[in-house]
Amino acid sequence: MNSILIDAAIDDDRRRELLFQGQLLVYAPTPSSLALVRFAREMAEEALRPFEPETAQYHLPVERYAAILAEMKPKFIHHPRSKECLQGIFRELGCDMNKTYFDVPRMRTSTSDDYLKTGIAYAFHPHRDTWYSAPMCQINWWMPIYPIVSENAMAFHLRYWSRGLRNGSAGYNYAEWNRTSRQNAAQFLKEDTRKQPRPEEPVELDPQIRVIAPPGGILLFSAAHLHSSVPNNSGRTRFSIDFRTVNIDDVAAQRGAPNVDSESTGTCMHDYLRGTDLAHVPEELYPLYEHQPTMVQAPELQTASSD
Ligand SMILES: [Fe+2]
Repeated sequence: MNSILIDAAIDDDRRRELLFQGQLLVYAPTPSSLALVRFAREMAEEALRPFEPETAQYHLPVERYAAILAEMKPKFIHHPRSKECLQGIFRELGCDMNKTYFDVPRMRTSTSDDYLKTGIAYAFHPHRDTWYSAPMCQINWWMPIYPIVSENAMAFHLRYWSRGLRNGSAGYNYAEWNRTSRQNAAQFLKEDTRKQPRPEEPVELDPQIRVIAPPGGILLFSAAHLHSSVPNNSGRTRFSIDFRTVNIDDVAAQRGAPNVDSESTGTCMHDYLRGTDLAHVPEELYPLYEHQPTMVQAPELQTASSD
């Protein structure tokens, strides 16, 4: 059973528990999420001037567009202001800053009408982030930069929360990916040949749920949820921000969502930075995450999570 909880008045421990059971949580914009959205808009508007970011794709050759994004996105990701805004969001939503570790925020673009959906503006096929070596305790945070509609949102494919899907995650190793593929995103304009974990059987996309929050509204979900970019036919490019967190108590206790089908190796544990001082997760914990935990069968899972 999946629910969407809106502005739930619960503490962070309870929130993570619910997320690990597959619930989706949505929060109204906070002062810091709005500051982050403002900052992202400034950057996008500056980079794409004289065009409006949401419709610039109709005025630029795709090579030029990809080159502009390839220059702008890393600046946003690594700017100190982006990190400060994230820290503000965590404080405003009651996270323990000493225990919350976060990855830098990404700015994503989903262009309309198949203009560009590879490389720097990759249109994500159905996947779980845990297929890409994210730990089962990872929580994903996602927010739109401009207003979105159902036709340019993100979809969750709920039937796979408790059901495994044959997939290529066993062939994915995070360290290997970083060595070979990450740097090259902007060069893939027509076809993305980088080897990514994909479903290896037909996916039943429905029932699916799309959460439409306002700009700066925050959607939280477990990294184990199967989700995808909706084929965008809205006539506008969707700009969004996402980032990830882990809580160090969960990391140490190996708590998290149940693993139904992730077999990736390598770990992104060294990417997370502590909320207070940007320190890394202690290295002695990394070996716990070189492999995904033992997979659970759906019936077992259903008994375990029924309440
Ligand atoms: Fe994802």
